[in-house]
Amino acid sequence: MNMHQTYRWGMLAPGKIAHKFASGLQYVPGAELYAIASRDEVKAKNFADQYHAPVSYGSYEALATDPLVDIIYIATPHTFHMENTLLCLEHGKAVLCEKPLAINSYQVETMIQSAKENDSFLMEAVWSRFLPNIHRAKELVESGKIGVINHLEADFGFKADYDPHSRLFDPALGGGALLDIGIYPLFFALYLFGVPNKVESEAKLAPTGVDESCRVKLTFAGGETANIYITVTEFTAVEARIEGDQGAIHLPNRWYQPGNLAITTEHGTEDIVMDFVGNGYNYQAVEVMNCLKEGRRESTRWSHNDSLQLMRLMDEIREQCGIEYPADHIDR
Ligand SMILES: NC(=O)c1ccc[n+]([C@@H]2O[C@H](COP(=O)([O-])OP(=O)(O)OC[C@H]3O[C@@H](n4cnc5c(N)ncnc54)[C@H](OP(=O)(O)O)[C@@H]3O)[C@@H](O)[C@H]2O)c1
Repeated sequence: MNMHQTYRWGMLAPGKIAHKFASGLQYVPGAELYAIASRDEVKAKNFADQYHAPVSYGSYEALATDPLVDIIYIATPHTFHMENTLLCLEHGKAVLCEKPLAINSYQVETMIQSAKENDSFLMEAVWSRFLPNIHRAKELVESGKIGVINHLEADFGFKADYDPHSRLFDPALGGGALLDIGIYPLFFALYLFGVPNKVESEAKLAPTGVDESCRVKLTFAGGETANIYITVTEFTAVEARIEGDQGAIHLPNRWYQPGNLAITTEHGTEDIVMDFVGNGYNYQAVEVMNCLKEGRRESTRWSHNDSLQLMRLMDEIREQCGIEYPADHIDR
């Protein structure tokens, strides 16, 4: 690590989400977008030019072995997260890896083990966890303003064109709604209630065998429940509602992004307007850098164990729904 508390970021795989992350990084004090790596050298150079990164590479290995890189952000499809993360960790890089951290809990355990063995930082890019609106919702819950919470209702749905070879539908790329977007309401349920003791789920499968929509009911130790619906076949409200015995908190459309909230109690409904910096993807980058400044190898706000519990939950849902990936049967 350099001594000036400026961190040089490398980006591995400049696809769609990488553009958003690169834009967000511009709002992070002390973050330098230093290098871009693609399998295609020209693509890496174009991306680097667009975001004023001085270095570009035509291979992921070249990025992982560049001694000037401090942190690598990984943005390949899910099925490559483990391989790419291990490459970077083994070269002593701190890693922020896109969600889902991998495709099953065996892979997540392997990645965590590697982070420990290489004494390197690892965090899953569950960006919503670090957004002010999500943080505020949790704060309001903890303040007791809506009493004792007993239920979460959350959905995430959009309509994607069916393409069996796309990241969303191809089992070889870890396709399906659950791993791609189910992760948001599931993370929120874990954040609010902890690990459920009962999971009931059903999915509608696409012709490729991955889930195009999925309904999950979670029941927690104190009898609290969460109803979750995710789909890539229709546009849904994309809202979240936390219910307590004295009120409710409403997170409106695209609740997992930067946005406002409303709280309803016996005194009526109060809108809470939030302030944001950047495009929202910057908050997770700030968390990574804060951890590194403090010499930590994992975040306490989204820890290794949080990623593992989330993936174990998705493993269980996949098992109930009969969703399998070719990569489930290798790497062991
Ligand atoms: N946090 C969020 O809001 C958010 C939103 C969307 C996606 N994501 C996550 O980010 C990851 C990437 O999603 P994306 O939508 O950005 O995907 P994408 O546009 O398809 O980009 C993925 C990149 O991965 C690289 N890659 C390496 N091997 C590949 C292969 N065999 N097939 C396809 N691409 C390959 C490619 O880069 P090169 O060829 O240049 O190396 C490609 O540009 C996913 O895990 C997803 O869950 C997060």
